[in-house]
Amino acid sequence: MLPPVPTLFPGQEERERLDDLLTRELARANERVAGGSVVPTLDVAAFKRELAAYDFGAPHPLEALLHWTIAQMERGVVHMTHPRYFGLFNPAPTFPALCGDRVTGAFNPQLATWRRAPAAVEIESHVVRAVAKRVGLPAHATGHFTSGGSEANYTATICALTRANPRFAAEGARAFDGAPVFYISRESHLAWVKIAHQAGIGRDAVQLVPTDGSGRMDANALAEAIKSDLRRGSVPVMVVATAGTTNAGMIDPLVRCAAIARESGLWYHVDAAWGGALVASAKLRGAIEGIELGDSVTIDAHKWFATTMGCGMFITTHAPILSSAFQVSTGFMPSNVADLDPYVTTAQWSRRFLGVRLFLSLGAAGWPGYAEHVERAVDLIALLEQLLAARGWTIANSSRLALLCVEPPKGLGTVQEIASRVLASGRAWVAVAKFEGREVIRVCLTHGEAAEDDIVQLVDVLNTPQ
Ligand SMILES: Cc1ncc(COP(=O)(O)O)c(C=O)c1O
Repeated sequence: MLPPVPTLFPGQEERERLDDLLTRELARANERVAGGSVVPTLDVAAFKRELAAYDFGAPHPLEALLHWTIAQMERGVVHMTHPRYFGLFNPAPTFPALCGDRVTGAFNPQLATWRRAPAAVEIESHVVRAVAKRVGLPAHATGHFTSGGSEANYTATICALTRANPRFAAEGARAFDGAPVFYISRESHLAWVKIAHQAGIGRDAVQLVPTDGSGRMDANALAEAIKSDLRRGSVPVMVVATAGTTNAGMIDPLVRCAAIARESGLWYHVDAAWGGALVASAKLRGAIEGIELGDSVTIDAHKWFATTMGCGMFITTHAPILSSAFQVSTGFMPSNVADLDPYVTTAQWSRRFLGVRLFLSLGAAGWPGYAEHVERAVDLIALLEQLLAARGWTIANSSRLALLCVEPPKGLGTVQEIASRVLASGRAWVAVAKFEGREVIRVCLTHGEAAEDDIVQLVDVLNTPQ
């Protein structure tokens, strides 16, 4: 019998040595990242040559591999962990979330069924129920962790179609007498288009509802669109309101959208992938009033709750629909219990222990800690707004979240030029976005440790001409 391969399964002493080394090296790398360039500084040609040399014909010492990989990450990615990454909702992760990744990796539990990982499944379900309660959903609300917002929104679509027509499960889109359609605002996250494709109802199923000039869904236009689709023989199935649009952090009129969806008998989904974290703050949560009216809600832990990537949540008040949408039965699984076994209530089968990162973060900070986390981000963006307005910048959006869209005063260059300049400086990262047809610089506060000085530095770099 061959012994275990020692390069894959080293002894305990070697594991501990490398673990310690990794912890130390990562901490140092993180310090260098915070003091260095936000954007990649990689010499791509040299990197590709070095990468090609790993042809896997012979083994390399893991220690050297770790050093090499960390060095490439330092030079070769945009740094979400840099306090002046004012980017696309990707946060610097909380420390408890990083601990959670280690716990998950070490035990590598399989969460397809309750029986194989009762502790892990119960922890996830406890956290999702706590979030659902905080959202204000009824006590019977249920849900699960997802790979992210897109999977959660996909799950909502499948549930809406399943409820709209019980034959959808067997016949797909053919079950409907007309083309199934659903409604999102034109400012919403367009992963919805891919979702319609995946769900088999086709990209044309997505009805883009006009906005009101301020980035919010125009509720009257929504009501009109539903009526007109019904007249044409289409089959409306779902209204999606966004609580925190990707471009501008705007919040659709959640209560009105809920009423319109109810009147028409449609599934009402609230995509609060980023903005949902406001439920933590008694001071700010009023901005997303109406989220509790959702038949389902998406909230990403890997956005404003700042866990590591791959951590979304789907929550619904319709457990039976969720389980009928994903039910399947096979002899090789140990059980098949609708409200217990995740593989029969979710899109995934094999499941990583995703939720432990939010469990540890929420456990360590409590809701009060997360309230401070979101409030300080909103306060820092308010400071930015004040400083930029004083320098003649125009504020394009009026978000109540930590996201500012701005247009430069004359003389500084175009939005594109300024954004390129900021990125080239390596001092900060901002995005260019389209908001209500206008090109804007989009600044979102994503780092829980960003401070006033980071805002002052951003203002400086935005106003530094070539
Ligand atoms: C409002 C909204 N919904 C959904 C998504 C998609 O989420 P994910 O990237 O986690 O799949 C995003 C991503 O930014 C988003 O902003």
